[in-house]
Amino acid sequence: MTGGGNSNSGAAGADSQARFAARLAAGRAQSLGALRDLYGRRSDFAAIAERVFAEIESCHRRRPAVLRELDNRRQRQPDWFEQPGLIGYTCYVDRFAGSFNQVVDRIPYLKSLGVSYLHLLSVLKARPGDSDGGFAIEDYRQTNPQLGSIDELEQLAAALRAEGISLCVDFVYNHTAREHAWARRAMAGERRYRDYYFVFDSETQKRHYEPWLQQVFPVSAPGNFTFEQSLDAWVWTTFYPFQWDLNYQNPQVFVEMLKNLLYLANRGVEVFRMDAAAFSWKRAGTDCLNQPETHALLRALRALVGIAAPSVVLKVEAIVGAAQATMYFGAADCRGREGHIAYHNALMASLWRSLAQENAAKTLYLLRDLPRNPPGTAWVNYLRCHDDIGWGALLDERGANWSSDEAELQRVVDFYDGLGEGGESYARGRRFQTQAGHQVHGTNGTLASLAGLERALQAGDPGAVDLAVARITLLHSVIFSQSGVPLINMGDEVGLLNDYGQADRLGGDGRWLHRPVWHRPENPLHRRAGDRILAALQAMLAARGANPVFHARAEVQFIELAQTAVLAAARRYGGQTVLTLANFSAQSCRIDLQSVPPGGAWRSATDLLGAVAVDGDTVALAGYGRAWLQLQQATDYPE
Ligand code: GLC
Repeated sequence: MTGGGNSNSGAAGADSQARFAARLAAGRAQSLGALRDLYGRRSDFAAIAERVFAEIESCHRRRPAVLRELDNRRQRQPDWFEQPGLIGYTCYVDRFAGSFNQVVDRIPYLKSLGVSYLHLLSVLKARPGDSDGGFAIEDYRQTNPQLGSIDELEQLAAALRAEGISLCVDFVYNHTAREHAWARRAMAGERRYRDYYFVFDSETQKRHYEPWLQQVFPVSAPGNFTFEQSLDAWVWTTFYPFQWDLNYQNPQVFVEMLKNLLYLANRGVEVFRMDAAAFSWKRAGTDCLNQPETHALLRALRALVGIAAPSVVLKVEAIVGAAQATMYFGAADCRGREGHIAYHNALMASLWRSLAQENAAKTLYLLRDLPRNPPGTAWVNYLRCHDDIGWGALLDERGANWSSDEAELQRVVDFYDGLGEGGESYARGRRFQTQAGHQVHGTNGTLASLAGLERALQAGDPGAVDLAVARITLLHSVIFSQSGVPLINMGDEVGLLNDYGQADRLGGDGRWLHRPVWHRPENPLHRRAGDRILAALQAMLAARGANPVFHARAEVQFIELAQTAVLAAARRYGGQTVLTLANFSAQSCRIDLQSVPPGGAWRSATDLLGAVAVDGDTVALAGYGRAWLQLQQATDYPE
């Protein structure tokens, strides 16, 4: 192992051992509790637990000194990922820079945006050929050779860390590739490895599950099981047929995957994106999502990682309804003992719904009515990622005032397909995985194409370009002013458009539409738009990073204004009070600040974004306008 050297001997080593022992003493009961929830009924439970503790001890022993120092630092500042200055960026290595070494060259660019957390997609060695964009892992301890070696990844992690940027990678733990050594050995007839997966000899066995399961890719990969000739059996494959779901009911799987995670942590990965987290435990007669053991599994990992590598953060990717998603913070016991951070999938989808509807009311209700996260946890707020916009999260909570029925969402899907109510809409997206009778599933497209930039450029219409830039800036202003980690999706900061060539070339999976190669747009109108977006994002991020009020722990009050197009929230923290306003309508409006507590005090407020000026007791917002009004004095703010 390179990077960090090894000064784990002598006094420093003894000190580090003592710290480990203290963490073990403090975290043992929590770890055992979670492990018991998973494997407590087994007669060999004591041996399993002993094995797990031996593994974390051995991992800690091998942990490089520089990472142990990071552990200590982070333990002194446990809210580091809740700080306003933590800004995320996510990209494919090849599409952003080329290789791990070339990412190093892009660090100044990332820093110019204020990025301090970099999520590199699919860096581990995936199966050859179609790998679901790198999410079918063949080897968790090797990297994709086209990007560089695992040593180079470690060097990149160190280079990033030296610049104050934490590296995040995907931990695809629900499934391995069919080409992973375990799957190969299962196919070669080794019983032990067959038990690493869900392998059903008969159709009857799979019928205990199948009727209740949803489908992730009903069009490109229908069904949840794949018949495997070499096994003469059915294998559980939630995603693509070459992605075999791991069987965590087998404690061996838990131990091996824990070891893989800690191996990568010792190589310098600071944040793990826990891929497809909702699917990891299966129970007959249920939809096999969000099971109690799914949560216990994350609780166990968090507790154990907290002992072995306490600077590590787990980021949960659970693309489920908002109420279910909050449970991944460990909300059940209100102690925040699962994911440190989690994707705010419902907010993301709801923002797109609000943009299409020019109405922010449902987004406001969603944010207002969700339970507050437990301390020490934070949402990851994002607008686009490498996946589709999944609309299911908005259907999930029927009856909640922020949910939609299928007919309403159908109109939203149509809108992003380019079909507005009065004819064409400004959006250039494509619906994803929809089949007759189930038209609401997902939408693909880059942020800029969905927000109207592609169509405006095609028309060569500068006015329409201005509107698209305003929409893109508006959406970012919302995620940058929320509690939690804002995550910029590569290319959105310069308005990259859909890549139709790539989508057609790679066929099958429509998500390739919005995974373009990073470039500076050539068309002058596009380039100018990109420059304006970049400048607006930089300014907002600088304002966010400099103001304690954007800490994830801020007191936030969501405010219903007379103008339902405007999303309004008052934040208070660190002696500051800021009112954030975002107008989802193309129409300008004037907001009565008297109706916003504490009323008159807003008269002297100033806009942190420098876009608007308060006029008496009102403030005017342009169409798609936004403002972050800061009170001059630390005024008591009514709860
Ligand atoms: C996650 C990834 C997605 C992938 C799936 C299966 O949802 O974001 O791209 O298809 O997991 O690994």
